[in-house]
Amino acid sequence: MTTLGVNIDHIANVRQARRTVEPDPVQYAFLAELGGADSITVHLREDRRHIQDRDVFLLKKTIKTKLNLEMAATKEMLEIAKNLLPNYVTLVPEKREEVTTEGGLNVKNNVKYLKNFVESLKNSNIEVSAFIDPLREQINYSKEIGFNFVELHTGKYAELTGHDQYIELQRIIESTHEACDLGLVVNAGHGLNYNNVKKIASINNINELNIGHSIVARALAVGLENSVREMKSLINSN
Ligand code: PXP
Repeated sequence: MTTLGVNIDHIANVRQARRTVEPDPVQYAFLAELGGADSITVHLREDRRHIQDRDVFLLKKTIKTKLNLEMAATKEMLEIAKNLLPNYVTLVPEKREEVTTEGGLNVKNNVKYLKNFVESLKNSNIEVSAFIDPLREQINYSKEIGFNFVELHTGKYAELTGHDQYIELQRIIESTHEACDLGLVVNAGHGLNYNNVKKIASINNINELNIGHSIVARALAVGLENSVREMKSLINSN
């Protein structure tokens, strides 16, 4: 069964628009769990544009599922992760100007640095995932570096249509099999919504989908508990 990680960064975005205390992503994590979220994902960015340090430490104390901390591979974040001890860390590339995470992490260009970084997290009993583009080379280097998981970037699939989307889907399917054969656990995410999720969810051996924007957007109409429940039932209706 494919599980659902709910990314609640956009709840924090609304709060930070006024730099006030509501809506509180910690309270909404509780509703996401009631709707069936299997894990809660937050991206603590260097510029703290949405999720704050206070959020991640409170989430760790209060959620009943698993905490997936997305972060850049920086010294500051390593220290925070080692204090926080989330269930998982997902390493993502981060650029200040970007609206959201744009491409996958280029693990190939940072093998030595990432090996030490991943080892340090694993020594604290934190499992580590690499958010990468669905490319054989990136998968092979992820294995070599010692990641437990890869999260395949579905952003391109989500943007494309027609035959181009079909080709990208085949690339994701192939990458899933390649990563599995190497013993990596395979997650996927970015840009997934109620219209495009089923084809990704039906790929054999996808462990977890990480979805944020579409679920939080739908929550404005039906509430977060229901928008999570709807997404879970789509994922598991194959
Ligand atoms: N996975 C990763 C690594 C991400 O950075 C994001 C966006 O924060 C997501 C999944 C979720 O993407 P979306 O908000 O488009 O569902």
